Amino acid sequence: MWEGWSLSMTDDELLRRARRLLSESESPAAFTGAGMSKECGIRTFRGEEGFWREYRAEDLATPGALRKNPRLVWEWYRERLVRYGEVEPHEGYHALVEAERRLGSLPVITQNVDGLHHRAGSSEVVELHGTLRTVSCMEEPGRTYPLEPELLEELPPRCECGAVLRPDVVLFGEPLPVEAISRAIDLADSCDLMLVVGTSMVVFPAASIPYRTLSRGGHVLEINPEATPLSGEPGVLHVSGGAAETLPLLLEGW
Ligand code: APR
Repeated sequence: MWEGWSLSMTDDELLRRARRLLSESESPAAFTGAGMSKECGIRTFRGEEGFWREYRAEDLATPGALRKNPRLVWEWYRERLVRYGEVEPHEGYHALVEAERRLGSLPVITQNVDGLHHRAGSSEVVELHGTLRTVSCMEEPGRTYPLEPELLEELPPRCECGAVLRPDVVLFGEPLPVEAISRAIDLADSCDLMLVVGTSMVVFPAASIPYRTLSRGGHVLEINPEATPLSGEPGVLHVSGGAAETLPLLLEGW
């Protein structure tokens, strides 16, 4: 089916091709980043109003920052957690769940820690960068608790043993959870189409996942208002648009 497509394709033709790629997929998967939650009102990291424009990642999202200034790091995570509690998954999240219903499965590999794919109802969510739903003891990492709001009344939150609790997110320089990265690689290697939504494709090893699909002859359908390093790769159909309005459009007519 891959005849290639010219950049001069009209938007309608582009959408028609995108719909056909998705509706004819026998083993689809999705790969999402912070842009997936942008229309929920959650800031991205590298956009014009992104977190990393205002804060230095090394001050907030590294093991050293957590050891040196746990209170500051937890103030940042608490602000994000409160925000996550205030928002609902938008129509784009629900479109992924509907596509899963129609196609039989649509596992979602996400770099996000906001839990919105779970809340929207996707059956399988692979959280490559961990989650803000739980925290772990920094002295006994196996000791994990659900992150209830009352835990954050006092910052930094502490374990029963008195040690500081850390968010179960992957900080810069830390390895990705083994189970998550191996499942993501399996999906990348076996899917015939990967829907890549709302990621700048600059943080590795997560960003290597869609390239694996291409290297095995699979296709990528990229939804992003901006071009990324992935956009021009052979086998990629880039649809320039926001997740909330574009994903529901892909469901029309089939
Ligand atoms: N719909 C879809 N994509 C959008 C939208 C939207 N409405 N608005 C912006 N985007 C795109 C931007 O064009 C950009 O390509 O979302 C992307 C957001 O990129 P980043 O902020 O870099 O987020 P992400 O790619 O998820 O970052 C990867 O970096 O800081 C770490 O751990 C953090 O998981 C994160 C990782």
